[in-house]
Amino acid sequence: MTASCFITFEGIDGAGKSTHIHSTASWLRAQGRQLLLTREPGGTPLAEALRSLVLQQPMDALTESLLVFAARRDHLQQAIEPALARGEVVLCDRFTDATFAYQGSGRGFDHTVLATLEAWVQQGRQPDLTLWFDVAPAVAAQRRAAARAADRFEAEDLAFFDRVRAGYAARAAAQPQRFVRIDAAQAPADVAAQVQAALMAQGPWSAR
Ligand code: TMP
Repeated sequence: MTASCFITFEGIDGAGKSTHIHSTASWLRAQGRQLLLTREPGGTPLAEALRSLVLQQPMDALTESLLVFAARRDHLQQAIEPALARGEVVLCDRFTDATFAYQGSGRGFDHTVLATLEAWVQQGRQPDLTLWFDVAPAVAAQRRAAARAADRFEAEDLAFFDRVRAGYAARAAAQPQRFVRIDAAQAPADVAAQVQAALMAQGPWSAR
């Protein structure tokens, strides 16, 4: 089957989505599907350079928003749209829901400006399916503590991640047709089972 599909993985830092995007990619490749596994900010040389700036350099929320949308524009034009045009499945670790959750709800930046940038940059392109890995910020913080050194976002406090989580919940409530909430507090095997069930039910290979 060559039906293209754009699937995004979202959640607060430490929710575990990156592990599951890699196992999803392996599962789809084992079925012989062509896919692009990518991430935001990033996915092209320019967008990866912008990612380094956003994760490391101090800046205000408008600058952050402009840089993540600039990275997204390049990523869409150079990588995502061509892959979808070839009929591939695109698995993307974060997309615009992260901007509404982190810059909008986390930083308190104007959602109307973000919606304008979203319309300019995406020209109507939206994910077909978004898996939202939801977990309490305290649990995610414990998981992060065991991992690598924190970047500018990972170093934020629990109140910031409470707001980011609420931002994701609001996006999911506003667009329920494309969001599936994954209970990311469960053991990895149980989370993987939820992910597979969501993909079977809502991917282009489902009988929907
Ligand atoms: P990652 O560590 O999951 O790859 O994500 C990088 C960080 O960038 C993460 O802390 C969330 C943040 N981010 C934003 O603040 N806004 C965005 O639009 C995106 C895509 C990521």
